[in-house]
Amino acid sequence: MPGDKSISHRIAMLAATAIGRSTVRGFLTSEDCMHTLRAMTSLGADSRLSDTGELEILGTGGKVLQPAGLLDLGNSGTGIRLLTGLLSGHAIEATLTGDPSLCSRPMGRIADPLRTMGARIELTGARGTAPIRMCGGRLHGLDYEMPVASAQVKSALLLAALWAEGETRILERLPTRDHTERLFTGLGIPIHIEGRTITLTGGGAAGPGHAGGEWTVPGDFSSAAFWLVAAASRPDADITVMGVGLNPRRTALLDVLRRMGAEVHVTPKTGSERWEPYGDITVRGAALHGTEVGGDEVPNLIDELPLIAVAGALSEGDTIVRDAAELKVKESDRISSITGNLQRIGVEIEARPDGFLIHGRAHLNSDARMDSFGDHRIAMAMTILAGAAPGPTTICGIDCIDTSYPGFWDDLKTLGGVASAW
Ligand code: S3P
Repeated sequence: MPGDKSISHRIAMLAATAIGRSTVRGFLTSEDCMHTLRAMTSLGADSRLSDTGELEILGTGGKVLQPAGLLDLGNSGTGIRLLTGLLSGHAIEATLTGDPSLCSRPMGRIADPLRTMGARIELTGARGTAPIRMCGGRLHGLDYEMPVASAQVKSALLLAALWAEGETRILERLPTRDHTERLFTGLGIPIHIEGRTITLTGGGAAGPGHAGGEWTVPGDFSSAAFWLVAAASRPDADITVMGVGLNPRRTALLDVLRRMGAEVHVTPKTGSERWEPYGDITVRGAALHGTEVGGDEVPNLIDELPLIAVAGALSEGDTIVRDAAELKVKESDRISSITGNLQRIGVEIEARPDGFLIHGRAHLNSDARMDSFGDHRIAMAMTILAGAAPGPTTICGIDCIDTSYPGFWDDLKTLGGVASAW
């Protein structure tokens, strides 16, 4: 499996600002993470990718340089939001931007609390969106209750807090992925977590003074998820994916697949990585039945909701997704892109303000024409659904898959899928 995207972004930023050299095995060299790595290079870090895929980063020792031009984060919400947080405590001026999809996504959610910490941030897009023009400097700690369940917002604030004076306290109403917190602990940066409250004391302008290190990035659960759902929805299939991240804040899809009737086995591994759990996952397919998804589990499967729609379409009975209005502000408006595509291939689905309702089991059409809407997870999830159709399906706009999973088509072929691109 390709390396975890969320973890690769965070390691690139923290290794690039560390004292000394870091070696990263399994770094995801997708477009999103390479944008972050290039941005870190513009800020003074040095990086080299070996032929074997090992990444060496020479950190800046806590400071960052004034970048010469725009920092382009491509399609990556994680890249732009976390980097804005990180740069807020540095005395530089920077403009962070990205592609049209990224420049349509809400940035007020990071700008508001970062301004409260003392950063000067201007959202120059039409509706509180990127390009983000910022002037970093002295920050002070923050006491903040998160209004949205977002690991990107939490992580932007935690990265800013490293270069702030005093204590930052963040209260999460719903738990979200905790890769940043785990990485801080792995780097020896003191962070205190009690229930849903995270507390961190910043190092001021000197920063946390963390040293570089050696890291192995586990496989990306969200990439493995495409094959897990493909197998789960075929009664005669089974698959084992190996070396995948098993962070419990990422794997709620496995609970959903179990509820729908699939057999799921997880074998945790113990290795050099003490900071993120990982292991092998085996899924055996079944005649699935519908389920309900909502509440606390939503942040822990937020990127898998397009796939839950696919599983729902191939299941008996209804599948309901609620409490997931965040889907509207992902790489596309995923409520609309899921609904539109599923209808085109013959699935009965109703869009709701915070999710959707699917009436399974669908009789899929041949020759359907679907659209990625420039969204990598929609393109890949629709490919999995197309695999269950009785004839060919056309999916337009598949280039976006390279943002997170450049080997997707090779893996599809290895698993017996047939696809041609033109
Ligand atoms: C991510 C967090 C999630 C997720 C995104 C990656 C991260 O976004 O959807 O793909 O790396 O922190 P939100 O935190 O905004 O929900």
